[in-house]
Amino acid sequence: MKPYSVLMVCLGNICRSPLAEGILRHHLPSTGFKVDSAGTSGYHINDSPDARSVKVAKKYGIDISDLKGRQFEVADFDRFDRIYVMDCANKSDVLHLARTSQDRDKVHLILDHIFPGENAEVPDPYYGEMRDFEAVYNMLNEACELIANELTTANKSVK
Ligand code: 4NP
Repeated sequence: MKPYSVLMVCLGNICRSPLAEGILRHHLPSTGFKVDSAGTSGYHINDSPDARSVKVAKKYGIDISDLKGRQFEVADFDRFDRIYVMDCANKSDVLHLARTSQDRDKVHLILDHIFPGENAEVPDPYYGEMRDFEAVYNMLNEACELIANELTTANKSVK
């Protein structure tokens, strides 16, 4: 059985998307799902997540310290069932690489689960402070709880 797969995408793959990856994994059963993250840029390939993301995740019992940055690539449309982007720039960058309407349909703003149709964005905390990372954590946690509920009740792991 193929696990249902979700990819989290931001710009650098060191602040928001590794946090989203860790949080969603935390809310899903340990088997039946695959969760990964990537950046639209190649700025931080092979880098560890930002220390502030690691710290806020750890505060809530989630370890993301082993993750490594990578760049989003076209093949990710084949590897993943659903692709969550953090902001509208990420969405536009990912959609530019889509080849088909099937590819495009996989791409969603992650906060659409909380604020449907409002184009709400997870703000980039890179130039911010620890409190900005806390705010990002809280938004992502709320969204990931809803996503995990939807995926588990729909039993998407069995495809
Ligand atoms: P992220 O944040 O997209 O949430 O990982 C950023 C990290 C690094 C940079 C920009 C945003 N940067 O320009 O290096």
